[in-house]
Amino acid sequence: MRSFLLDIQEFQLLFYHPNKLKAKTLLGSKEYVKDGESGHIGAKIFTFRELAVATRNFRGDCLLGEGGFGRVYKGQLDSNQIVAIKQLDRNGLQGNREFLVEVLMLSLLHHPNLVNLTGYCADGDQRLLVYEYMPLGSLDDHLHDLTPGKKVLDWNMRMKIAAGAAKGLEYLHDRASPPVIYRDLKCSNILLGEGYHPKLSDFGLAKLGPVGDNTHVSTRVMGTYGYCAPEYAMTGQLTLKSDVYSFGVVLLEIITGRKAIENSKTGGEHNLVAWAKPLFRDRRKFSQMADPMLQGQYPERGLYQALAVAAMCVQEQPNMRPVIADVVTALSYLAAQKFDSDTQGVQNLRWTPATPPRTRRDADKRQKGGSYEPRW
Ligand SMILES: Nc1ncnc2c1ncn2[C@@H]1O[C@H](COP(=O)(O)OP(=O)(O)OP(=O)(O)O)[C@@H](O)[C@H]1O
Ligand SMILES: [Mg+2]
Repeated sequence: MRSFLLDIQEFQLLFYHPNKLKAKTLLGSKEYVKDGESGHIGAKIFTFRELAVATRNFRGDCLLGEGGFGRVYKGQLDSNQIVAIKQLDRNGLQGNREFLVEVLMLSLLHHPNLVNLTGYCADGDQRLLVYEYMPLGSLDDHLHDLTPGKKVLDWNMRMKIAAGAAKGLEYLHDRASPPVIYRDLKCSNILLGEGYHPKLSDFGLAKLGPVGDNTHVSTRVMGTYGYCAPEYAMTGQLTLKSDVYSFGVVLLEIITGRKAIENSKTGGEHNLVAWAKPLFRDRRKFSQMADPMLQGQYPERGLYQALAVAAMCVQEQPNMRPVIADVVTALSYLAAQKFDSDTQGVQNLRWTPATPPRTRRDADKRQKGGSYEPRW
């Protein structure tokens, strides 16, 4: 417990920037703390008992999912607020440090495209995080392995989600001070609220970005196989451009409906970026890259432009990748161009083999990147 508090104080010192971010809520009273400027309600400290009651003792039918940190349950607080409660797996590898980083980051960073931390519990050796409940689950659930009857995301919705996720990342890179490198951008960490409003979640791996003249921070390679930028996987040198690469992979998944890593496939189709790079070189092949589930209902020009953004983001050389603000500009434009299949027609359908179910990530596997030279 002692080291937990010390860690929090250290982090609080690191993060306290009076003019930009407010670190007020972590060690204070057990009451809600209101941030005068933003009107944001600070994270509340819960007892383990309160959260056990909220989830009916972590009942199986309240389980929403499970990731590297532990299980996530749907719960109802005393106030009637519906929340998602993530319980740290005490045998898990990802532990106290990620818990602390998550609490601190989400207590300081507030944006419409970042998930809101309602509170947390550090009772004895229990570590739990309480988030706003995101009723539509993760983007992953809407792109891959759709259950029968589940609505396929249409093109307009895909662009809206991509633009919103990019805005969340832009806030971390350009508005937080010092900048925050998210480090774990992937479809399962983009959660969807009412109207498919996207929010980034899971900040346990986030890092403060380089300050001053430094161009990178050095760190142990963490993240998810298939989303890691090649230079980060190989050298551990982390920059804001590592996040831009991961964003490019997410955008490719959104456009193609394919997974970052297709475990059941070998060779050219195993890794999404490696599959996409030869196709990027030939505009005539772009239509082959559209998700077959879209059934040709996408704007041809919009597809080209979205693929061009994705291609730039996943370039081998970090300095060739765009800054996230430029990605936001491009995707906001694409999201504003509403596609209507009745008036704009349907593109030629081509048969593409369906993608089989993927298995859960292997957190520390590394990705080897291929080379890519853009041709436009
Ligand atoms: N705030 C939330 N609201 C609703 N569902 C959530 C929320 N947070 C998580 N979930 C659900 O729980 C699942 C597991 O989330 P979790 O973040 O633990 O794992 P993951 O993102 O799949 O993997 P990783 O541990 O690598 O981040 C998510 O896929 C999502 O369906
Ligand atoms: Mg997650």
